[in-house]
Amino acid sequence: MNVIITGGSRGIGKELIKRYLNKATKIYAVARDGKKLKEVANLSSKVIPVELDLSNLDEVLIFSKKMSNKNIDMVIANAGISLPHSPNFTPFEEFKKTIDINFLSVHALLSEIVPSMIKRRKGKIVLISSLASIVASPTSLPYSSSKRALNSYAESLRNQLAKYNIKVINILPGFIKTDMTAKNDFYMPFLMELEEGVDRIVYAIEKEKKEYAFPKRFYYLLKLFNALPIDFRDKILQKFAN
Ligand SMILES: NC(=O)c1ccc[n+]([C@@H]2O[C@H](COP(=O)([O-])OP(=O)(O)OC[C@H]3O[C@@H](n4cnc5c(N)ncnc54)[C@H](OP(=O)(O)O)[C@@H]3O)[C@@H](O)[C@H]2O)c1
Repeated sequence: MNVIITGGSRGIGKELIKRYLNKATKIYAVARDGKKLKEVANLSSKVIPVELDLSNLDEVLIFSKKMSNKNIDMVIANAGISLPHSPNFTPFEEFKKTIDINFLSVHALLSEIVPSMIKRRKGKIVLISSLASIVASPTSLPYSSSKRALNSYAESLRNQLAKYNIKVINILPGFIKTDMTAKNDFYMPFLMELEEGVDRIVYAIEKEKKEYAFPKRFYYLLKLFNALPIDFRDKILQKFAN
């Protein structure tokens, strides 16, 4: 099995690489930090480090083309950024960077790989969305927008590619201990250890869950919140906007 995992230099992506070492023939680990990628590549000769900045969409398209004849069986589009939460209106460049990395780079990466999967009539595409896509925080405009866009993308893609036996798996994790959450200075309910969070992600991939949100208690609380009238919801959300 040949796999591409973006955001493979640390956090969830690095842990996913460790989990797939036994099953995979080759794992292309994509990230910017060459030094950290080298450490990951030292885990096994199966890991091929790919230094690539996913905000450079032209470079991502070139990489996708390079991968189109490598018989890629699974892409885990995991890389993502979350800017520090801010109650201020997001400057355009910051907004664009988040959307480019968290959302547009996914389609750029898949652009030449999906056609190769269609030819082979098999493949798995794993998207790492977030529970932040369920209730959009007023202090993380670009992040929640990018993740909600991913949810629509997953739904469209899943039903478009079903006839080719290509599975699209959309995963919505809650808070997991990584560099991304270490910088948050607010209370993070149901914060999970990295290993536990990645256990759940691997479970969803192996079971080919179409959509998998966790932890369930947090997910249902958010769904319940969304069932409330919009004026009531907004009143609560506006308390976080300062
Ligand atoms: N941790 C959580 O609580 C949580 C919850 C829900 C969803 N998620 C999602 O899970 C995914 C992984 O998050 P994480 O917590 O593991 O974050 P992390 O520890 O901050 O790691 C992010 C990864 O993405 C890579 N990356 C960032 N910008 C990049 C760019 N421009 N080009 C290429 N690679 C880039 C980083 O590598 P380099 O810095 O080396 O480029 C790193 O490997 C993200 O999509 C995140 O939104 C996380």
